[in-house]
Amino acid sequence: MFKTIEDHAADTVGITVEGVPHRVPANISVAAAALLCGLGSVRETPVTGVGRLPYCMMGVCFDCLMKINGQPNQRACQVMVAADMTVERQLGAAEFEEF
Ligand code: FES
Repeated sequence: MFKTIEDHAADTVGITVEGVPHRVPANISVAAAALLCGLGSVRETPVTGVGRLPYCMMGVCFDCLMKINGQPNQRACQVMVAADMTVERQLGAAEFEEF
């Protein structure tokens, strides 16, 4: 469904999305990478479990919350992809460590 406008084939990084390795352009956000990788949703809401996709792509709507490198509640549209990054969908409310 989604594809890049420019050909970034020479400048890519390897990331793992939902346990599946992908090569994506090096200069895009995790949210854009998730869309390119074909995820049907990036998170499920805590109350109803409805799947959500990135909406604003500028850090406002929080519909792109994902678990990035093991850290939950990351706005995927505000994080750039990096080599060997691990990206997972966030299912429901994330748990926090107590201090
Ligand atoms: S897509 Fe809206 S905050 Fe990331």
